[in-house]
Amino acid sequence: METQGSLENHISALDIGNSLCIQMTLNTAIELDVFNIIAKSGPGSGAHLSSKEIVSQIPTTNPISAAKNLERILNLLSVNSFLSISLRPATANDKTVQEKTYGLTKNALCLVPNEDGVSLAPLIMTGSEMFTIQSLCKLKDSVLEPECSPFYKAHGEPYFEYISKKPEFIQLFEKLMIMRSYLYFDHKVLEAYRGFQELKELMDVGGGDGSSIAKIVSMYPHIHGINFNLPSIIDQAPKYQGVKYVKGDMFKSIPKTQSIMLKEVLHNWDDEHCKKILRNCWDALPKAGKVIVVEYFMIPEELIKNTPETMNSITADIMMMTLTSGGKQRTTAEIDHLAISVGFVETNIFPITHVTCVIEFLKRNIE
Ligand SMILES: C[S@@+](CC[C@H](N)C(=O)[O-])C[C@H]1O[C@@H](n2cnc3c(N)ncnc32)[C@H](O)[C@@H]1O
Repeated sequence: METQGSLENHISALDIGNSLCIQMTLNTAIELDVFNIIAKSGPGSGAHLSSKEIVSQIPTTNPISAAKNLERILNLLSVNSFLSISLRPATANDKTVQEKTYGLTKNALCLVPNEDGVSLAPLIMTGSEMFTIQSLCKLKDSVLEPECSPFYKAHGEPYFEYISKKPEFIQLFEKLMIMRSYLYFDHKVLEAYRGFQELKELMDVGGGDGSSIAKIVSMYPHIHGINFNLPSIIDQAPKYQGVKYVKGDMFKSIPKTQSIMLKEVLHNWDDEHCKKILRNCWDALPKAGKVIVVEYFMIPEELIKNTPETMNSITADIMMMTLTSGGKQRTTAEIDHLAISVGFVETNIFPITHVTCVIEFLKRNIE
């Protein structure tokens, strides 16, 4: 049994106490375009620039201390493994005075768009939005008060309503969804799950900007793909070839269709709202229809400490508790229970990784 220990030994508490400062410094570097500026100056981790060289490409009105202040930011990022430091002579004439130059580490290279134009930057940026942090400050109220959504408490309206009035954030949010799809769907689910092959029509309910249904249609061109979403989202969505766009509200009704995908949708809602969506899916489907649920950060039955996947799932669960009214990451058993409770007779589970799953709900109510 551990009793009170020496405060100096509680390094992890100190680390966590500093983590918001590190996150916001990282976000600052992304906002100032630091990683892209270094990346453009040469290939991979070989390119190095001084803070003065970086600042010369940033539109600043602070000629006096911009480079010095940026250097302090770069130093924090380097001790946190985002930048590497090399020294070089500050001037050609005097080799005794050295200046620091900064290069991208493996961690920073993830924040620069790859050959498919995808990076992890939207994850840092959405998590660093003031309105997200303000809602995290209200997290305790989810314990102290009944039925409290920290986001609602902080902003007086639900998350999706709030962000639908912020077109710039919607674009960032869609980039986050594209990034998550790229990591967990395009390169995991689409390679492992073959259930799309047999479909003629698939409606992606709450299908974001339509990029996922577009990917499915490009892989299986015989599928008639539909993106069903709120009017405000469809109005701003890019148009993908082979995808039809339908405006509506999944809580009111879902148009008739052969099959439905719900990808990262159920985790936004409490059980009652999930059941409402699933009942509307049921009504929209023919007797042989199916719902294909894709969820990335499911809660494993057993919580194994310190595995990155489990830690991501549990953190995602806290973010759901903060941002939504009752949304949560679920176990496969909990999702299965939702489906059965609204009348689906069979569920097929296709585990893709430890925490990513495809779950089919089959209607099959032959009367
Ligand atoms: C977490 S995002 C998932 C997006 C997409 N399925 C993906 O995986 O990238 C949830 C989606 O549900 C949509 N949504 C929220 N409320 C909705 C409603 N009442 N009717 C239809 N779509 C809705 C949002 O606009 C958003 O596209």
